[in-house]
Amino acid sequence: MDGDGFRIAVLVSGRGSNLQALIDAQADGRLPARIVAVGSNRPGCAALDRAAAVGIPTFALRQRDFADRERMDAAIDAGLRHHRPDLVVLAGFMRILSPAMVAGWTGRMLNIHPSLLPRYPGLDTHARALAAGDREHGASVHYVIPELDAGPVIAQVRIPVLPGDDPDTLAQRLLSREHALMVATVALVARGGVALTPAGIQYRGTRLEAPLLLDEHDVLVAPTDPPAG
Ligand code: GRF
Repeated sequence: MDGDGFRIAVLVSGRGSNLQALIDAQADGRLPARIVAVGSNRPGCAALDRAAAVGIPTFALRQRDFADRERMDAAIDAGLRHHRPDLVVLAGFMRILSPAMVAGWTGRMLNIHPSLLPRYPGLDTHARALAAGDREHGASVHYVIPELDAGPVIAQVRIPVLPGDDPDTLAQRLLSREHALMVATVALVARGGVALTPAGIQYRGTRLEAPLLLDEHDVLVAPTDPPAG
């Protein structure tokens, strides 16, 4: 960690509502960390505007300016390292990073994914949950490993699937809970409350056997914790 606290860099590709949740949480003191840079593979995306609006340094790169994926990933990596982040958060970052790049951030790169992993890695998670007849849907924050959406899951939030839901209503209902999950999980990591080791995720001195769950008060609880109150 640098002298000025826990430093976070965020990678984005689109609308940036998860980034905004982190910006807001930093502003009102819920996030014991500082967002030091926002990078993107989509110049001009709304998420970059959100960062620039609050004075966070941004960088954007286009694949067509690079000979291959590895070279662009190396440039993204350099863009991140310039800002010395303690943690990189993928928040709606729609690019699969090469294994070599990911390997350089083991235990220091998180992704938010809109499903209850290991169910539905990849795209169209809401439609796939509906097609499977799931009664419950949710989102996961996990450490990034080279395999897509397959890293150890730190925390999840669950929501019910309601009669009449379509992929859009489900996605919309999940989104506000995703934001709370993102903030709570990044705050936990920033406080040093969880860490990735070769033996798995360490939490309160032991191995986390199942993801933490975000409760209705936006508190992360271990699945075995007794209910609050
Ligand atoms: C979110 O649903 C996130 O889980 C997924 O992509 C979406 C990004 O939304 N990976 P936003 O750009 O943060 O608004």
